[in-house]
Amino acid sequence: MCGIVGYVGEQHPEKVLIDGLKKLEYRGYDSSGIALMGQKDVQIIKSVGRIINLEETLKKSKIIDSNMGIAHTRWATHGGVTEANAHPHKIGKVTLVHNGIIENANVLREELKKEKVKFNSETDTEVAVALINKYYDGNALYAIKKATSKLKGSYAFAIMFDGDDKLYAIRKDSPLIIGYGKGENFIASDIAAIINYTKDYSLLAEGEIAILDKEKIEVFSDGEIIKKKIIHSNITSLDADKCGYDHFMLKEIMEEPKVLDGLFKRYSDFSLLPDITKYKEIHIVACGSAMYAGIVGASLIEEKCNIKCYVECASEYRYKKVIYDRKTLVILISQSGETADTIAAMRKAKDEKIDTLAIVNVETSTIARECDKALFIGAGVEVAVATTKAYILQVAMLSLLVIRATNDKKAMEEAKKIPGEVNNILGEREIFEGVAKDIYKARDAFFIGRGIDYAMCMEGSLKLKEVSYIHSDAFQAGELKHGTISLIEKGVPVFAIITDERIKDKTESNVVEVESRDAFVYTITNDPEVPNHRFRYVVPKVSPYFQALLVVPVLQLIGYYTAKFKGLDIDKPRNLAKSVTVE
Ligand code: AGP
Repeated sequence: MCGIVGYVGEQHPEKVLIDGLKKLEYRGYDSSGIALMGQKDVQIIKSVGRIINLEETLKKSKIIDSNMGIAHTRWATHGGVTEANAHPHKIGKVTLVHNGIIENANVLREELKKEKVKFNSETDTEVAVALINKYYDGNALYAIKKATSKLKGSYAFAIMFDGDDKLYAIRKDSPLIIGYGKGENFIASDIAAIINYTKDYSLLAEGEIAILDKEKIEVFSDGEIIKKKIIHSNITSLDADKCGYDHFMLKEIMEEPKVLDGLFKRYSDFSLLPDITKYKEIHIVACGSAMYAGIVGASLIEEKCNIKCYVECASEYRYKKVIYDRKTLVILISQSGETADTIAAMRKAKDEKIDTLAIVNVETSTIARECDKALFIGAGVEVAVATTKAYILQVAMLSLLVIRATNDKKAMEEAKKIPGEVNNILGEREIFEGVAKDIYKARDAFFIGRGIDYAMCMEGSLKLKEVSYIHSDAFQAGELKHGTISLIEKGVPVFAIITDERIKDKTESNVVEVESRDAFVYTITNDPEVPNHRFRYVVPKVSPYFQALLVVPVLQLIGYYTAKFKGLDIDKPRNLAKSVTVE
């Protein structure tokens, strides 16, 4: 997901802009750039790779005198990872950075080429620049409105016009905020980018155009100036700091006891939780880890509430024929609240007048704002691309919904001890470092389980593969014999999750099958009777509501340490973005 920062004020823009880009690195990117508005011209500097490369290029350049600029981290969608494709892009009098995808870019590009427009990149973004420039005759507001009316797709733009001392911002589907400083103002993809300069910001709504100079910010909606709600952020720059840990991913795993405790305390008042028993059917829709959290939750909803519960990945759900019953609830799970597919799934349900419930982390996000009701998991800022504490809280929130539905006061008593149990497990993390040392050279790894254990396997497998790049798959243990067991050979790591009393012997027999084919078996269980093969870790036995909260941190740590032994960029794995705000 791309990152945008804009600055106008008394400071040297490049310092503020680079600082902001660094705070947005977690979003994932492969190139970056900066544009500075000078008295006579615009200076644009870009580079491929990490921001440190951009800094090096800046150091070698004569930086023009400026008090306004825009900057960008690009996660390539249209066009390869090249300096020419990096943002900012400038055509004529218009310089712009973009987060999103212009879906009709090719058609527009051909039309503009007929009008002799010369493009310098393969990007969809340059089409937007060319269009704004086409309509620009000195009236920036008109040019932006006219050009964006022709665009299909998603965009967040920060824009500068030659000879104009103002910054302009507009968005559709991709988030963008405006930040309020003293004698300076900001544009950013999210508040983390500018938290060192201001905590006060407003969310730009769809179609609004913000005009910023160093003294004021004006926001236009349908040509009228409107008053925007100012939000005071409670995140600190510490949130964007590793606080002594080697990586954000480990820091965020270690925060799990604290944030779990906060969640259980906050929602011990059942009145804050919706009653899901009034629904006949529940659809849980999400992507990636959020979806895997949903699968754990769905198992509990069906087991404990006898409500039919489907889990679908949002990228499928948004296009498939969904048969709604008037008493259907659609739950959207999303850490960022900005995942494009999940937003589309939410809007699909809303178009059908179906109740929507968000389980999100970012309280100002699109999903949080547009769902009928939102439950906030309170994970704080999650910087590592691989989600850990947010996943744990998503599972815990779903468990709370079920506990509320069954009014299970005993479970709420048990909840009080869970953060401490997690803390004890994290305290033994060097054990899991040992497992990682055993497996980090593997080419493949498999996770097997049944029922809710299989749901935990899915998250464990995703965690391992996304940070260590080891090919990994989760399988229903009972499915092994139907094909997958052909992949088992000497030394292949197989993680067996065995916590469900009712079927533990079944999974154990699958373990014996793979071990008899020389697999290395690592068992995570809540039952000391389950045999130890190559490795066994026993977590405390707790009710099914909370069992995943003790098992999955073990799998998260194994993924983390495996990637660490491989010396990989754990917080920013290749090709991945923290939130996929484009299709
Ligand atoms: C998880 O480690 C991944 N980063 C990814 O699967 C993520 O969970 C998914 O993209 C959904 O993101 P969201 O929760 O912000 O919607």
